[in-house]
Amino acid sequence: MTPSRDDAILLLGAGRMGAALLRGWLAQGVAGRSITVLDPNPAPDLLALAGDAGVRLNPAETGAADILVVAVKPQLVAQAAPAVQPWLSADTLVVSIMAGKTLADLRALFPTAGSHVRAMPNLPAAVGRGATVAVAPPGTPGAAIERSHRLLTAVGGLEWLEDEALVDAATAVSGSGPAYVFYMVECLTRAGTEAGLPPGIAERLARATVEGAGAMLGATGQPAADLRGNVTSPGGTTQAGLSVLMAGGTMQALLSDTVRAAAARARELGGTAPAAPAVAAPSTGA
Ligand SMILES: NC(=O)c1ccc[n+]([C@@H]2O[C@H](COP(=O)([O-])OP(=O)(O)OC[C@H]3O[C@@H](n4cnc5c(N)ncnc54)[C@H](OP(=O)(O)O)[C@@H]3O)[C@@H](O)[C@H]2O)c1
Repeated sequence: MTPSRDDAILLLGAGRMGAALLRGWLAQGVAGRSITVLDPNPAPDLLALAGDAGVRLNPAETGAADILVVAVKPQLVAQAAPAVQPWLSADTLVVSIMAGKTLADLRALFPTAGSHVRAMPNLPAAVGRGATVAVAPPGTPGAAIERSHRLLTAVGGLEWLEDEALVDAATAVSGSGPAYVFYMVECLTRAGTEAGLPPGIAERLARATVEGAGAMLGATGQPAADLRGNVTSPGGTTQAGLSVLMAGGTMQALLSDTVRAAAARARELGGTAPAAPAVAAPSTGA
């Protein structure tokens, strides 16, 4: 699904994530001329993309936005917000992807907009395979929900949350999750090298294995446990490996701790929990 062709979209901030969204909308057939981007230092590829697609970039005049997408860093939004106020009306839907900025923050930053939605995409949105969560206040019109849904599904899957407090948990799973998987590729590479493989081959095998396993999850829709069961012959090599990984719930406990730590940090950054001493990221051993 894509944003309606009639929606005038104003994108505030077109860095990594804002540009990923822009690419997703254009790839889904949204007309470039319906999109305006405000970004003080557009990257060369953004300039080229905007030029090719007819996207308006930093226009001198203001207009009316049906949808404002806020994709600046949270710490910069207070200084960026005044520039977009003339674009807003009671008909405007604000969709923010800023980490830690709550629905209450959005209402305070953009008080004249009619609806506010808070979303949290993740990095694979840049390749159209994002996992995004979104939350809207009770009473948000169905049309605003549908518009947000079309906008955010242009870059991958979307889950709506009933409770805003769950955004921190979702951030810890899907927002930070790609880094956990990248780290697993690093570990598998290193383990392959220790088992005697040349480093380049170990890295390519580890990378292709995660890509392939991810593609199977997507293509088959089968539960992960079933896919695992299918490749685990009794007494075989996979079972021998898994018996170590699963012994005493080791990996489950590790991931549960990982998600708990990331969720706690998200709460701290959002100002909903007292700051705790920072925990150093594990060394890659590289
Ligand atoms: N990256 C992720 O994986 C991810 C995931 C989920 C959510 N998010 C959220 O997405 C937002 C953007 O993150 P990002 O990684 O895309 O950051 P980013 O690459 O730094 O992009 C932010 C963009 O906003 C621009 N900007 C700065 N001040 C501005 C202003 N006054 N008006 C308009 N644009 C302005 C920046 O320009 P300069 O570079 O010149 O400052 C930059 O191009 C953040 O709020 C973040 O929490 C990111």
